[in-house]
Amino acid sequence: MRWWGGAGKVGKTLLLMPEIDRTILEAFLVAGDTPVSGDKIARELGLSRVSVWGRLERLRREGFVFEASTRVGYRMTRVPERLHAALVAARVRLLSGRELPLLGLEAVDSTNSEAERQLAAGREPPFGVLAAVQTAGRGRLGRVWHSKDNGNLYLSLAFRPLLAPERMQMFTLVMGVRLGHFLAERFGLKMQVKWPNDLLCDGRKLAGILTEARIDADHVRDLVFGIGINLNAREKDFPPELRATAGSLALAVGKPLDPHRTAAEIIAHLLASYEKFVAEGKGADFAELWTRYDFLCGKKVTVSMLGKELAGTVAGLDESGALLLRDSKGNTHALNAGEVTLKKK
Ligand code: BTN
Repeated sequence: MRWWGGAGKVGKTLLLMPEIDRTILEAFLVAGDTPVSGDKIARELGLSRVSVWGRLERLRREGFVFEASTRVGYRMTRVPERLHAALVAARVRLLSGRELPLLGLEAVDSTNSEAERQLAAGREPPFGVLAAVQTAGRGRLGRVWHSKDNGNLYLSLAFRPLLAPERMQMFTLVMGVRLGHFLAERFGLKMQVKWPNDLLCDGRKLAGILTEARIDADHVRDLVFGIGINLNAREKDFPPELRATAGSLALAVGKPLDPHRTAAEIIAHLLASYEKFVAEGKGADFAELWTRYDFLCGKKVTVSMLGKELAGTVAGLDESGALLLRDSKGNTHALNAGEVTLKKK
């Protein structure tokens, strides 16, 4: 598959994202209601007017509306309803100064798998993959992640962190709790984190994380951080078996969210959390954040792992991020993986 467009083997590229589109869209975002002159963009980008108009035409076909408001200027009056990778990347750069190459796909098997294929083909991280639909979205423990075209976010970020493999577990926990904290503050929500990395709001699952890594000579070389966030899904968009347990940010906030702004805020936050983790590890505030958002602490649960079940009361995390479970005999077990179910009272 080509990175900047064309049809590939697995995914069909919908949203082309050359640098130039991102830069043009940034100019319109910065200008707001003030008309932007094509000549000025051409001069600033060092391009011909013809190539700028060519890009604008292409963006129009992808759902943008640029209205002529004076003889020399255009305003961006509409953006696509579906996530457009170049617009998300433009917003990420304006918000955070970070330039993240972002591949937008109409449909793909899994954004994590696509990121892995891109890495295997030599694409240099960091980069991101976004898709409107996943045909084989993957969850933890071999589960399926329902990934219909329902306004939700299916995102993978590829990094090359050179971390020791034993820090991976903590990495995912830190990314999850920092994102939960961000969403709580940004939208005024009562967020919780369910070990290892489900994000809940009012007891409903809003997001799940699947981190995958390639380990070379005792180092995590390529790391793919995959996250599914229910952004704008309505209750009827979820399969019937998930309606009682799944939620979305829009349902929690009580109104549809601007998908581009929200996705960009989330991506900018994830990039900052990643950089902080690589530089400082979990950070001095991790324990306090985990305690604040922990859904499981003190609860009676059953943990299933590798066909076995262990019952007990959750007693927090150990230093590596393993779940501490105290059984009925008073023994404490440190669990690195497993599915946690609350015991019925
Ligand atoms: C879970 O809660 O089980 C983890 C779900 C992770 C889903 C995301 S969606 C984007 C990325 N691509 C995948 O195939 N999975 C992750």
